[in-house]
Amino acid sequence: MNIAPFAERLQQCHMGLIEAHLAKLSPEDLAFRFFYPATLDSLRERYLARLDPARDVLLGIMIDGEIGALAHLYVEQHKAEVGVTVLPEYRERGLGEQLFEASILEARALGCRQIAIETRPDNAPMIALARSHGFIVGYDYGNIAGRLELRPLEPAGMSLWTFHRLLDVGAGLWRSLFGCEPMDKR
Ligand SMILES: CC(C)(COP(=O)(O)OP(=O)(O)OC[C@H]1O[C@@H](n2cnc3c(N)ncnc32)[C@H](O)[C@@H]1OP(=O)(O)O)[C@@H](O)C(=O)NCCC(=O)NCCS
Repeated sequence: MNIAPFAERLQQCHMGLIEAHLAKLSPEDLAFRFFYPATLDSLRERYLARLDPARDVLLGIMIDGEIGALAHLYVEQHKAEVGVTVLPEYRERGLGEQLFEASILEARALGCRQIAIETRPDNAPMIALARSHGFIVGYDYGNIAGRLELRPLEPAGMSLWTFHRLLDVGAGLWRSLFGCEPMDKR
């Protein structure tokens, strides 16, 4: 199994892979992530059609040419909210954690002062993730809301973030030469 060592900022050419990632999630996973009984058709209309990777902050960890873990960071006025999904076959091996940390780093690098999550009370892994990262977690109209105040990035964090985004530039150059689809999926 070939797991990318860092979360990549996804681009327009990843839209097909984003849809393929969502298509592999169960109805329960989709309900955890989108808070309604989402189907792929409804997501195409209500979510994918409105996604703009040039504007929306989408991070992915690639595994064997597919997006194994996907995060969407909704950023508004120095506040971010993050939604994360990991493909079922790759769960419970720390990918959610890795992507969650990358999302927090990204939010701090973008100047956010707070990051939030919202999930259902029966979503034990997501609540564990939030708690272990110091989020204040509590009930909010029947759901669980968590928030974490963010400090500005210190120089070491900024260097790490810059390094990751430079790797994105390299990956972008590669894609402009060879396309977005991985070699084994063409
Ligand atoms: C939530 C989700 C992203 C976690 O991904 P993952 O890769 O399995 O997570 P990790 O392996 O990094 O584990 C993260 C934490 O959850 C805990 N955990 C994992 N699976 C668990 C389970 N089935 N029950 C309880 N805790 C669990 C881990 O022990 C870990 O806790 P820690 O941070 O205290 O060490 C994944 O389960 C998922 O995609 N769920 C469906 C979509 C969803 O619910 N998204 C969140 C809504 S925003």
